[in-house]
Amino acid sequence: MGDTAKLTAGGGDYEFPMKSGTLGPDVVDIGKLYGKTGMFTYDPGFTSTASCDSGLTFIDGEEGVLLHRGYPIGQLAENSNFMEVSYLMLNGELPSKDELDNFEFTITRHTMLHDQLRQFYQGFRRDAHPMAIMCGVVGALSAFYHDSTDISDPEHRKISSHRLIAKMPTIAAMAYKYAIGQPFMQPDNSLSYTGNFLRMTFGVPAEQYEVVPEVEKALDRIFILHADHEQNASTSTVRLAGSSGANPFACIAAGIACLWGPAHGGANEAALNMLREIGTPDKIPEYIARAKNKDDPFRLMGFGHRVYKNYDPRATVMQKTVREVFDALKVNDPVFEVALQLEEMALNDDYFIEKKLFPNVDFYSGVILSAIGFPTEMFTALFALARTVGWVAQWNEMISDPGQRIGRPRQLYTGPTTRDYVPIAQR
Ligand code: SDX
Repeated sequence: MGDTAKLTAGGGDYEFPMKSGTLGPDVVDIGKLYGKTGMFTYDPGFTSTASCDSGLTFIDGEEGVLLHRGYPIGQLAENSNFMEVSYLMLNGELPSKDELDNFEFTITRHTMLHDQLRQFYQGFRRDAHPMAIMCGVVGALSAFYHDSTDISDPEHRKISSHRLIAKMPTIAAMAYKYAIGQPFMQPDNSLSYTGNFLRMTFGVPAEQYEVVPEVEKALDRIFILHADHEQNASTSTVRLAGSSGANPFACIAAGIACLWGPAHGGANEAALNMLREIGTPDKIPEYIARAKNKDDPFRLMGFGHRVYKNYDPRATVMQKTVREVFDALKVNDPVFEVALQLEEMALNDDYFIEKKLFPNVDFYSGVILSAIGFPTEMFTALFALARTVGWVAQWNEMISDPGQRIGRPRQLYTGPTTRDYVPIAQR
């Protein structure tokens, strides 16, 4: 596109080049705006700002479309598995059978943690939130794996990427075991990525653990649904941390910290707590009224999205998965009925219709995770486990971009103008 964007401001007329991607909105390249006009753009929350080029994930919020390297999330959730999607995110193409086997072999052999890290857990209180442990332990990995922290070395980047993807299930499962006072379970390389995680979480040394195939498939699908999501808050955090040259373990720890917030990845825990607090369908109108009340800070957790102004395609898959898990485990938790009726009422309420608020990925995920046996505190840790492949893929994409520079936004200053220091005796 040769078009330019014209700006008239501060008594001057300016032109800025426009760029088109393969899908989605065109952009106005304002890189030279300050140099030309002495002005900044202003976009708190980055509602209209593209921070980078990326070929990993495309979202069309109006249409409820989510593509990973061009493949629709519904097709990947239906036909693929988390290891194959991880390969796709990292390498750009679906793998051949040999490529997938080699990738899985590599990941499987990075699942163990340095044994000293087991002592690291002893420093936490038993009631520490798993996300506090994940932040700490993942950040600490850079103290143990010095042979893969040189980000200028593609081989180091590859090894650290594999280590992060492989070790997250072990770290998350150990956080759960530590909280309930059970011994850590070592990885079992004969199991799938997700089956191994289930055994490390729910297995005990005293007996054989049998992975339930339907649960393994449902959880693997949930990992696919959480793998990546364009430039969301935690991914942008990883990119910004990485832009300074920080090592990948530190960058992913920063992403985990950001994901923990209830407005972001913490919403799955908050959504299930909300559904349990509502308890029965007759209480739903009271909570919908609270969500609509400007003077009440309460929001429907698991509803609304900065980008999706249509149904989050991941929530569609999640709702279907609830039924599969409930049937497989013969669960009959009334919370699912509350969720279904809450969705129905909200989607027929003018407030939610006008503001285009739909269920997002977090609305049903907690119902499934709870049915499988995870406590609510573990929900965001599972989100972090799955999102690690997206963070790592986005980090690699940024670091290997020759034009990459440190991210350094500016501001609109609203503080005091220059004034002289006043000695304390005169204050
Ligand atoms: C994730 O970015 C990503 O891609 C994130 C994610 C990913 O995969 O990485 O998809 C994962 O974080 C999903 C979102 C999980 N969070 C929640 O479910 C928390 C509840 N949702 C909201 O807090 C909110 O919808 C956000 C944070 C998700 C989006 O916030 P925005 O885009 O800044 O929108 P907003 O807060 O400005 O809301 C717009 C309006 C407001 O009303 P007005 O001020 O215009 O009158 O909608 C209202 C809000 O009050 N609103 C809600 C609401 N969400 C927005 N009202 C009631 N309940 C809600 N859930």
